[in-house]
Amino acid sequence: MKLENKTIVLTGGRSGIGSDLLSQLIGQNTIINLSRNAPAIAAPARKDSCRHISTDLADAASVAGAISKIKELCPDGIDGLINCAAVQFLPQFVADDFEHNSIAKEIAVNFTSPAELISGLLDSMLKRPEAFVFNVNSGLGIVPKHESAIYCASKAALDNLTRGLRAQLAHTSVRMQQAFLPLVDTPMTTGRGSGKISSASVAGQIIRQIESGTLDLDIGKVKMLRSINRISPALAHRIMQKGGS
Ligand SMILES: NC(=O)c1ccc[n+]([C@@H]2O[C@H](COP(=O)([O-])OP(=O)(O)OC[C@H]3O[C@@H](n4cnc5c(N)ncnc54)[C@H](OP(=O)(O)O)[C@@H]3O)[C@@H](O)[C@H]2O)c1
Repeated sequence: MKLENKTIVLTGGRSGIGSDLLSQLIGQNTIINLSRNAPAIAAPARKDSCRHISTDLADAASVAGAISKIKELCPDGIDGLINCAAVQFLPQFVADDFEHNSIAKEIAVNFTSPAELISGLLDSMLKRPEAFVFNVNSGLGIVPKHESAIYCASKAALDNLTRGLRAQLAHTSVRMQQAFLPLVDTPMTTGRGSGKISSASVAGQIIRQIESGTLDLDIGKVKMLRSINRISPALAHRIMQKGGS
């Protein structure tokens, strides 16, 4: 599928990888961005090709409202949904600053809202001869690190959701895709990690993946992580506990 003249719903276009996806897609496509804050759109991109619906993805009512507005804006359907927004809370369960309420919020943004958007927008995607759902995943969904246990679990759940729905939708025009990312230089990783890759290059790889139709893609160091995990899950686990991607 060539990403030209398409209508695409994107979450998290305000920041990081989502912001680069937005800037690389607008102009040739119409993007409907869902995040709490409106994205800043750099000239010379055509501002009229980006619609923003202020949405709190941690709040089911806000997600439902966004789905209704998208249907009003796009009565002829949409060509794709990119679930990019996520949060990663670092405090460990044993830490003094760990917030019990953060568990539900992290799961809602990272897992529940992608599932709700797919469910709520499926009929809009089925109106098109071909459509895609793209879930932005992480190497941490393959092998968890010791911090951010809920984040890692939510990404593993997103992988299972993607593969489960891929089987459910195999007879339809909707394709379920995902990419597993290594450490990327974005606001989410400010002040931690090394050897980060740029969010612009990740956005470019995601766009090429959507266009080629590749269902699952491991980016950068995740390729090696998956190979090691296949041969020795114990070794992959040890690498991640030492601070891998
Ligand atoms: N950075 C990495 O190293 C890395 C590695 C692997 C995978 N990933 C994945 O890549 C994707 C993008 O991450 P990033 O690093 O680009 O993150 P980021 O720069 O922190 O951006 C996160 C985005 O999510 C939105 N968001 C957060 N909470 C929200 C809420 N409650 N409601 C609506 N929107 C919300 C934010 O917008 P508002 O604050 O305006 O709402 C923002 O646009 C995520 O799925 C992440 O898991 C990142």
